[in-house]
Amino acid sequence: MTLQRDYPITEHCIGPVAPMADAPPWIFALDNPYLHGVYAPTSQELAVEALPVEGELPADLFGAYFRNGPNPRHPPLNRHHPFDGDGMLHAVYFQDGAASYRNRYVQTAALSQELQDGRSISPGVMGPFDYNISRFGIKDTSNTDVLFHAGDLMTLWYNAGDPYRLDPLTLETQGHFDLAGRKSRRLSAHSKVDWATGELLFFDYGDEPPYMTVGVADPQGNLLHEVAIDLPGPRLPHDIGFTSHYTIVHDLPFFHDMNVLRKHKVRVLTFHRDIPTRFGILPRRGQSSDVRWFECEPCYILHVTNCFEDGDWVVMDGCRSTNPMPQAQPGEGELASMLAYMRLEANAYRWRFNLVTGEVREGDIDTLNTEFNKSNPIFHGVPSRYAYHQRIPLYEEGGYTLRFTALVKYDNATGARTQWDYGPGVYGSEAVFAPRPGAGRESREDDGYVITLVTDANDWQSHCLVFDAADIAAGPLARVRLPQRVPFGFHATWAAGGPLFAAG
Ligand SMILES: [Fe+2]
Repeated sequence: MTLQRDYPITEHCIGPVAPMADAPPWIFALDNPYLHGVYAPTSQELAVEALPVEGELPADLFGAYFRNGPNPRHPPLNRHHPFDGDGMLHAVYFQDGAASYRNRYVQTAALSQELQDGRSISPGVMGPFDYNISRFGIKDTSNTDVLFHAGDLMTLWYNAGDPYRLDPLTLETQGHFDLAGRKSRRLSAHSKVDWATGELLFFDYGDEPPYMTVGVADPQGNLLHEVAIDLPGPRLPHDIGFTSHYTIVHDLPFFHDMNVLRKHKVRVLTFHRDIPTRFGILPRRGQSSDVRWFECEPCYILHVTNCFEDGDWVVMDGCRSTNPMPQAQPGEGELASMLAYMRLEANAYRWRFNLVTGEVREGDIDTLNTEFNKSNPIFHGVPSRYAYHQRIPLYEEGGYTLRFTALVKYDNATGARTQWDYGPGVYGSEAVFAPRPGAGRESREDDGYVITLVTDANDWQSHCLVFDAADIAAGPLARVRLPQRVPFGFHATWAAGGPLFAAG
């Protein structure tokens, strides 16, 4: 394939552009690193069984790893941002020591319309926003998060969009996900399921009051509770936390000016270093007036690892950024602010909130640059010890674009950090914890497997790696060779076998 132009920005960020036959040809006309290399979309939807395995898959590994991510189908209307790519799920299924793979687009309303027209219709996050095309002003790609609830997969968008239901075996999109009894459909990415109760703990947010709501649905998808959160204006929270009794919401000083959005149709994010971060703690079924706010050092947070109660204290672990909008680099032209925004600077951090005295304590768990932090879902909401992060190289380490170079495990009881490097030119995906079948809170917390996908930029092969969670530094127990290159993506989840496979 012949390159149609030079790539000054892409060459700087990811190196030479690889001529890929499995990617759509239109990407080669665009100088944007998030359309090439490990970010290049695939054109194929495949279903392949009996995948080749190096090493040995654990016989008791039963269930599926699902990963969502951007896979743009058509050339963008304007500058492409990785949040704009049409959502695509990649799934690896495990049973009886064997593995199979499937990938499929999320058939969103926007993608369906664009497939009919054969072109992009919706603008993306770099604008200009157009509310005549979408009530969000931009394309709801459903490309960000994925969770398993009420027997279905649910895909979610970072900007609080309209979630979709997918068949977990065929990955066929079955329509929107609606909670029975709820007026609004919109849900944010990182709404989550409490393992102990099966409840869906959800939130959404937007540019009009109420600027945030949080709620609870039962395991069958019926609304149990929903309450507005009193925020001073539109915000861009990305996650919530929960303990057995409380929900923790985020009011972060990294947001946009609505006057600029109305006037110029673009969302310009500013980190307000003079405004404290606030965390609101309310009982899971509490009212707006029950929220207790705690002020902390200004920061931004993408992802919470876990929260739990410790006597009078509520503890929240997550990855914290004190520089969510790094300086744009000269020479990166019209993509400079997007490229800067995508360079995540964050590290493992712990906040403690005293519900009796109002005292706050906060500090680093570690200073290594990591994000996409996950932990064993069985221990979500109760005291936990381990966390599994992705290592992200900083700009000065050559991290010109967002990529994951190692799996990092934290032991918060001992302070130990162990790591598995994916290798030169090999980039990972969010890793999930797959508990051993039958595990519960009486089990050892790291009794299970950690699973991720990697793509090797040396030969464009992708593999699914399965680690013993107790010893990730030993390297993967098994490497499952996938039948195609899997582009870089966002969030992943694990769904245990049993009901999942019985449903098929
Ligand atoms: Fe996220």
